[in-house]
Amino acid sequence: MVAEIISGKEVAKTIREELTVKVSALKAEKGIIPGLGVILVGEDPASVSYVTAKGKACEQLGIFEETYKMSEDTSEADVLAKVEELNNDPRFHGILVQLPLPKHIDEEKVLVKINPDKDVDGFHPMNVGKMVVGKASFLPCTPHGIQELLMRSGNDPEGKHVVIVGRSNIVGKPMMNILVQKAQGANATVCMCHTRTKDMAAMTRQADILIVAAGVPEMIKADMVKDGVVIIDVGVNRVGMKPSKKDPERMVADLRGDVDFESVKDKASFITPVPGGVGPMTITMLMVNTYESALKSANE
Ligand SMILES: NC(=O)c1ccc[n+]([C@@H]2O[C@H](COP(=O)([O-])OP(=O)(O)OC[C@H]3O[C@@H](n4cnc5c(N)ncnc54)[C@H](OP(=O)(O)O)[C@@H]3O)[C@@H](O)[C@H]2O)c1
Repeated sequence: MVAEIISGKEVAKTIREELTVKVSALKAEKGIIPGLGVILVGEDPASVSYVTAKGKACEQLGIFEETYKMSEDTSEADVLAKVEELNNDPRFHGILVQLPLPKHIDEEKVLVKINPDKDVDGFHPMNVGKMVVGKASFLPCTPHGIQELLMRSGNDPEGKHVVIVGRSNIVGKPMMNILVQKAQGANATVCMCHTRTKDMAAMTRQADILIVAAGVPEMIKADMVKDGVVIIDVGVNRVGMKPSKKDPERMVADLRGDVDFESVKDKASFITPVPGGVGPMTITMLMVNTYESALKSANE
C-alpha cells in the first residue's frame, strides 16, 4: 500500500476559495467586512513572519487587517490597554496576540483580557471551557484544521481509535477535546501519549488515526504503526539547511515532521506531508474563525 497524500495546501486553497465567496456575500448583504486586529510585541523573526503571512491571507480574502507593532520593551500595562482598545473597536471581529510575548509580560493575563467573543485563536479560558463541554466556540486553529483535513479527505473520525502524541495546550489537548465530542466530525475513541507514557509504540500501533505533535524529528517509525493507519504529522522540525528545489544555488531550511515519512508511507493509507500538510491549515482556520465572528455579530 502506498499512502495517499492529504495535501493541506490543496484543502486550505479550497477553504479559502469558499471563504472569499462568503466574505464578499457578508459585505454585499450586511455591509460588514470581517476585521482582524493583530498585536505583535517585539521582533522575533518567526513571529514577524507568521504575522506577515496572516496579513497576506486577510488581504487575499477581503478581510480587513491591522497589525499593531509594539516594541520589545513595551510594558504589560500598555499591551493590556491595546487589547482593551481593540476589544472596543467595532472594526475588529477577531483579536490575535502573537505569542510568545517577551518574558516580562504575563501571557495568561493578556489572553484573558481579550473579549471571548473576539478570541479567534480560541485560547481564552471561556472558549477552552466551551470546547470541553461541546458548546459552539472558537476552536483553536491547528486542531480545528486537522479535523477539516480528516473530514475532507474522507477520514471521518467517528468510531475510530485516535491516538494523539503530545499534550500541548495548542495542539494535543484541544485535539483530544474536539474529537471526543458527541458531534459530527468527532465521536472518536481518543488516547493521548506524552513523555511519561509507557511503551508508546504499543499505543501508536493501535491507532486507526495517529496524530503526532511532539516536536521530535521523525520519531514515529514504520514498526510503530499498523497497516492502513491515517497519519497526521503536526511536527515542524528544522534539522539543517538544504539546496532549494527551485534554485539549487540557494539554501533553504530542511524541515522534517515528527513522522519518518519515507518509512511509514508504504504502510499508511493516508498521510500529511511536512511541509504542506497541517501548516497551511492553521492560518486558514484563523480566517474562518474571523469570518464566523463577523457573521455572528451581523446576526445579533
Ligand atoms: N503546523 C502547525 O501549524 C503547527 C502548530 C503548532 C505546533 N506545530 C509543531 O508541532 C510540534 C509540537 O508542538 P506543540 O507546541 O504542540 O507541543 P510542545 O509544547 O512542544 O510539547 C510537545 C509535547 O510532545 C510530548 N513529547 C515530546 N517528546 C515526546 C516523546 N519522545 N514521546 C512522547 N511524547 C513526547 C511532550 O510531552 P510532555 O508533556 O510529557 O513533556 C509534550 O506534551 C512542534 O514541532 C511544533 O513546531 C505545528
